Amino acid sequence: MPNPAYLRLGVNIDHVATIRNARGGSHPDPLRAAHIAVEAGADGITAHLREDRRHISDDDIARLKSELTRPLNLEMAATEEMLAIALRHLPNACCLVPERREERTTEGGLNVAAGGARLERIVGSLKDAGVRVSLFIEPDAAVVEASQRIGADIVELHTGAYCERALEGNAAAVARELERIATAARLADAAGLEVHAGHGLTFDTVGAVSRLPQIVELNIGHFLIGEAIFVGLARAVERMRALMDEARKVPAPASRHARSA
Ligand code: PXP
Repeated sequence: MPNPAYLRLGVNIDHVATIRNARGGSHPDPLRAAHIAVEAGADGITAHLREDRRHISDDDIARLKSELTRPLNLEMAATEEMLAIALRHLPNACCLVPERREERTTEGGLNVAAGGARLERIVGSLKDAGVRVSLFIEPDAAVVEASQRIGADIVELHTGAYCERALEGNAAAVARELERIATAARLADAAGLEVHAGHGLTFDTVGAVSRLPQIVELNIGHFLIGEAIFVGLARAVERMRALMDEARKVPAPASRHARSA
């Protein structure tokens, strides 16, 4: 029986590939990082194959899929090229994200309504192949409803705005963003969608999100890879895992969120 209180940690290894690609060659290897993350407590590995291949490569995806001992979550744009790659490798899950070449990272959630029949067809093709489909969305009721309508299995709620407000130290704005995430998580769960969250999470911001009981998975990358420079990847993942577990034991009302962030 899965433990409903357990919160899964997906470690995003994109930025190991960013460092590798800064010099070309093969070091540091994202697959080695994935194995270390799993050993340290990651429940799955996430990798974003971007259209411009700025970090993760096609070969990385092939190696991750064939050698990983935990589920692979492939983040990708909803394009025909990426659909073909996903159908070739059959990751455990695909998280569809918006993508603009000029952005530094995924800046906003997917515009599900604008995706129309094409997005719905891509979701359907992945599901028909046995791949679970997640949509990376803003924590917004209308987008949650649209995600359910087009057949997504999962929504991943964008925590970027919450994390940015936390960095600014704006407690009222942090509380507002957390409330948006909490409301969207409740709506999505009530609609039968599995709820994930991620983007920008750090040791300081992970606790409040972890306390939202509908969320069953967090995907965290940039902060962990950055922290690995100072303490090593295993220690960074272990600490994140411990903070998530600790927070999960305390079901907090919304009013407590601002303080813990
Ligand atoms: N979830 C999604 C859908 C993302 O696109 C990203 C960034 O690649 C993350 C989670 C992880 O964000 P971060 O690297 O800021 O932890």
